[in-house]
Amino acid sequence: MAEFKEISPNATMGQKLANWFDNRYPSAGLFYKAHLSEYYAPKNFNFWYFFGSLALLVLVIQIVTGIFLVMHYKPDASTAFASVEYIMRDVPWGWLVRYMHSTGASAFFIVVYLHMFKALMYGSYRKPRELVWIFGCAIFLTLMAEAFMGYLLPWGQMSYWGAQVIVNLFSAIPFIGPDLALLIRGDYVVSDATLNRFFSFHVIAVPLVLLGLVVAHILALHDVGSNNPDGVEIKGPQAPRDASGRPVDGIPFHPYYTVHDIMGVSVFLMIFSAVIFFAPEFGGYFLEYNNFIPADPLKTPPHIAPVWYFTPYYSMLRAITTDMMYVLVLFVALAAAFVLLRSRMGMIGKAVALVAAALGILLMLVLDPKFWGVVVMGAAVIILFFLPWLDNSPVKSIRYRPGWHKWVYAAFVAVFLVLGYLGVQPPSEVGQLVSQIGTVLYFGFFLLMPWWSRLGEFKPVPDRITFAAH
Ligand code: HEM
Repeated sequence: MAEFKEISPNATMGQKLANWFDNRYPSAGLFYKAHLSEYYAPKNFNFWYFFGSLALLVLVIQIVTGIFLVMHYKPDASTAFASVEYIMRDVPWGWLVRYMHSTGASAFFIVVYLHMFKALMYGSYRKPRELVWIFGCAIFLTLMAEAFMGYLLPWGQMSYWGAQVIVNLFSAIPFIGPDLALLIRGDYVVSDATLNRFFSFHVIAVPLVLLGLVVAHILALHDVGSNNPDGVEIKGPQAPRDASGRPVDGIPFHPYYTVHDIMGVSVFLMIFSAVIFFAPEFGGYFLEYNNFIPADPLKTPPHIAPVWYFTPYYSMLRAITTDMMYVLVLFVALAAAFVLLRSRMGMIGKAVALVAAALGILLMLVLDPKFWGVVVMGAAVIILFFLPWLDNSPVKSIRYRPGWHKWVYAAFVAVFLVLGYLGVQPPSEVGQLVSQIGTVLYFGFFLLMPWWSRLGEFKPVPDRITFAAH
């Protein structure tokens, strides 16, 4: 046991209480110092750095409103829809809690997409922050699972048919597919059994994983220190420090950034409240109109679309048709030819690459394009995990990259938004062609990054962060 710290008898009551507490629970004080009062963050954070703390805020909102919803919600196919109506009409403030939760789901994705974009712009995924990024990607995947399962719970037409379509996709996987889909549903169609298991995962299993990942994400970040808009390390071996070893380009997270983040939180809450009070359905984007009709297993809605945050990936899924498979085969053949001609691999390596490519092409031609659609949709998220090793640029931040790199990022965002838009629309010939081009561009951005990220004239990176006090 550590020795008790004595305190002067003249100390105030507050100081005595703090000392009493600290003697019995020193880890709380150490935690406070390591992560708040003595966690040095770069001075030059800009507004993009609000989104991490906003993601934490939305996480808390979702958990708290979720707890209150569960008090009145009934996870039973015959009563689920009515229990949500009951929450909306009869439970005091139930409408507010429900709208906070449904708007919170969309807000979560908006905030997380912006947070990810910040990391992309400033190269925050690069050494030594690869694990921060990987935990982030795992959070993103988990968040998708959480939102997907939550959407089934109101048991409206879109809940039902959206789940039916997505779970059926799993049955396209060769050999194990049909059994896997059966395992997920717990039945041959989406039914009460599916609702029960999705409820269980949505309220307890997935949130626990999410919380664990968020803790890992922040601990990993605090171990290596935050990046900043200049992409200059403030805690590296060359970074200037004061006499007591503190980085001179850093400021303690508390109180500086806690106060700073209150500003972000205030603006966020204004927008969040405006949506909740004036446009909770948000034109059918946050709550789809079809979902105000109770689920009917005998009546398929004419147009089934997932909620907006999934639609870029849904577009990629729909883009994979038989014709598109021929295009993809061509790309794989070209990539294999490039590797064989240009790489310095030995004969054995080249032979292995050739066999792998031939086998891949054979499978691409033989297996159902629906299966490849699922693969492409999954790969669109999984590829994010590899970003730290795809980017070969000599600098981290966009600020010091060649000017045209900004246009590449802008084009990537535009492609993502167009794919998102097309995913909400009913299928059309033009839409299909555009989403096929969009899918190729989306993957092109990542797969060609090892090449294009090195090109162009880079600006000199300063030794210290650039900061002008305001
Ligand atoms: C529940 C969701 C999430 C929460 C609560 C969360 C929380 C945070 C917080 C509090 C920070 C520090 C403040 C900041 O840099 O803004 C941070 C940084 C970071 N996060 Fe997240 N995050 C989440 C999701 C993600 C996702 C999905 C990714 C990427 C796929 C990601 C990647 C990063 C990176 C790379 C940093 C370091 C940024 C830098 O130092 O420049 N995060 N996160």
